[in-house]
Amino acid sequence: MNLNILVLPGDGIGLEVTREAVRVLRVVAEKWNHQLTLREGLLGGIAIHKTGGPFPAETEKMSIEADAVLMGAVGLPEFDNVSPEKRPERGLLGIRKTMGVYANLRPVRSYKALLDSSPLKNHLVDGVDMVIVRELTGGLYYGSPRGITGEGTSSSAVNTMAYSWVEIERVARMAFELARKRRKKLASVDKSNVLEVSQLWRRVVTAVAPDYADVELEHILVDNCAMQLVLNPKRFDVVVMENTFGDILSDEGAVLAGSIGMLPSASIGVKKASGAWTGLYEPVHGSAPDIAGQNKANPFGAIGSVAAMLEYSFGLTEEAAAVNRAIETVLNTGRVTADLRPAGTPATTEQAGEAVCQAIG
Ligand code: IPM
Ligand code: MN
Repeated sequence: MNLNILVLPGDGIGLEVTREAVRVLRVVAEKWNHQLTLREGLLGGIAIHKTGGPFPAETEKMSIEADAVLMGAVGLPEFDNVSPEKRPERGLLGIRKTMGVYANLRPVRSYKALLDSSPLKNHLVDGVDMVIVRELTGGLYYGSPRGITGEGTSSSAVNTMAYSWVEIERVARMAFELARKRRKKLASVDKSNVLEVSQLWRRVVTAVAPDYADVELEHILVDNCAMQLVLNPKRFDVVVMENTFGDILSDEGAVLAGSIGMLPSASIGVKKASGAWTGLYEPVHGSAPDIAGQNKANPFGAIGSVAAMLEYSFGLTEEAAAVNRAIETVLNTGRVTADLRPAGTPATTEQAGEAVCQAIG
């Protein structure tokens, strides 16, 4: 098979973890005889430095031509006080919108070897296995009006959370379909006791539910969901929510997995003629400027994103399973990065990546 992939390492630890993810991709291509066509592009702060904008036209063009996009992370502290439209993050929002990837799948699972890496009690996290489905191309991130007006103490600001029926329905159906292939439980998260957008959200999810009568549906308020995630996380199978709620709750979910560095993600939305998804694959973590360039970052989220890519965009389930198994094998050997608080000397980013390659090979 020809794997035509655009790689966007981005900023900070994005470079380091993506390097390991690409290494794993090469090992898979070699072992299963796939033809790998890799292109590399600019996104985020590095793109601002080199082209003046966070999402250059060249990157946009390449993202449309590729079968799948592997992204690292975006964000640099030097842009902390810059307005949102000039920030590296805007590049990520741009590529998500351009690719039409409205459903962001963020699997959260516990690993036996990492139970002690989580600050939560072992019996709470042992057996956690859920997928957070985050709506990715709507809500507060994209709504208008937006902006700050006025000066000083008389200034004010606005952002808009807006969703259409269609936007909610398509991500709800995606979540129901996913639940169907798993334990057949779906929790839909909203704030319908306060927000009209959430009332519509609940109405739409309820309206499509009869098409998935085999899936048990519950509606849960977002504040309660935040609590349940640490109180009784095993009750969740698939959890679907709007963009901002998903951003926040998936970082909370990372605590269950032992470290945010563990979480992969797959953003999908558009199917190709072949039936595979056009996808954007990225670890859930950010660019972590505090540890960037130190060969310390956890590459497993990025490598797990490669597994997700092999599965969703190329239908290569055997290869995807092999990558996930290799990650687990390495976790069991304890050769893990500092964020997972291993007993012995922590592995470097490179050593952890190399160990996964060896476990596959
Ligand atoms: C994420 C990140 C991004 C988001 C940032 C970098 C724009 O936090 O993917 O969760 O908020 O979507
Ligand atoms: Mn986030």
